Amino acid sequence: MTLKNAKILSAAFAIAVAFCVCWKPVQVKAGVQDEAKDPMAAENVKRGTKLFQSNCAFCHGPTAKGSSTGPSLIDSSPVRHDKDGDLIGAVIRQGRMDKGMPPFTTLDAAQISDLVAYLHARVQATDSRETAGPKSGYQLKHLLTGDPAAGKAYFEGQGGCVKCHSVTGDLSGVATKYQPTELEGKLLYPRGKPSKATVTQRDGRKFSGTLSHVDQFYVAVIDTNGRYRSWDRSNVKVEVEDPISGHLALLAKYTNKDVHDLFAYLETLK
Ligand code: HEC
Ligand code: HEC
Repeated sequence: MTLKNAKILSAAFAIAVAFCVCWKPVQVKAGVQDEAKDPMAAENVKRGTKLFQSNCAFCHGPTAKGSSTGPSLIDSSPVRHDKDGDLIGAVIRQGRMDKGMPPFTTLDAAQISDLVAYLHARVQATDSRETAGPKSGYQLKHLLTGDPAAGKAYFEGQGGCVKCHSVTGDLSGVATKYQPTELEGKLLYPRGKPSKATVTQRDGRKFSGTLSHVDQFYVAVIDTNGRYRSWDRSNVKVEVEDPISGHLALLAKYTNKDVHDLFAYLETLK
């Protein structure tokens, strides 16, 4: 852990203690009660709430609505489009150092899953209070904020999207193909076809199957017998037999602004 991270964590801890003393978790409780049908999920959410208070609230605010140091995670595209931690997990593990989001390499998979459960519950609790309904309220506020010209520049330049896509070819008219929230989801994580992957262990044993998760730290496949297997990335060699991994590799690079700009640009492709 760097000195800077240590400082951040100790400050976060102090703040967390302050919350324990004076913060009444009314809104979070509402989220937990919404999940009362599924007590397992509720337990996740409770553990996630604690982890969030001690690790994340410092920057993202006590109810994930943002602060001067970190954006709202309620209005966040990766959080909204996350499925079982596939997007949130990548950001937590890899961070975005250049933007002020530190990587949390000491949180294990179970802790990350609890944090993910907490964030989903917060989004649910917030949306269920909005009279306009979840999607429409979110869509209006959130989706129309990007700059299409900046998105085009990112698409053709830094983003490297033109290596695999063309706006006159495969992405021609993409905005007419999908509803706005669906298109944003596709942009972040095109989940259409599951990738095939082969994992080679240090002892030379190979496991092939459907890729369930891959990032810098973990890889998981469902093998040919339907068994879920996961590995620490540093112990194995991973070959993904699908170009989509190139798209997914970008997840760690997009900033909040890039996603909004790209989305605004893609929405012009009608
Ligand atoms: C290394 C190759 C690669 C790169 C780089 C890449 N993508 Fe993709 N992308 C893919 C693949 C493969 C798919 C899945 C296509 C499919 O399933 O038909 C995909 C799917 C998509 C889709 C959904 C298309 C649809 O019709 O469902 C969008 C939108 C998209 N990418 C946008 C982008 C943007 C924007 C960038 C740059 C920031 C980018 N991609 C970078 C390979 C890439
Ligand atoms: C030191 C401050 C700081 C801490 C601590 C922190 N974050 Fe962040 N986080 C940021 C900043 C700043 C960004 C925006 C980065 C950007 O502009 O792309 C961010 C971005 C994110 C995003 C992506 C949001 C988006 O819409 O792109 C997620 C998800 C996230 N943080 C989750 C967490 C979680 C969960 C924790 C606790 C484990 C955490 N963060 C702790 C500062 C922090």
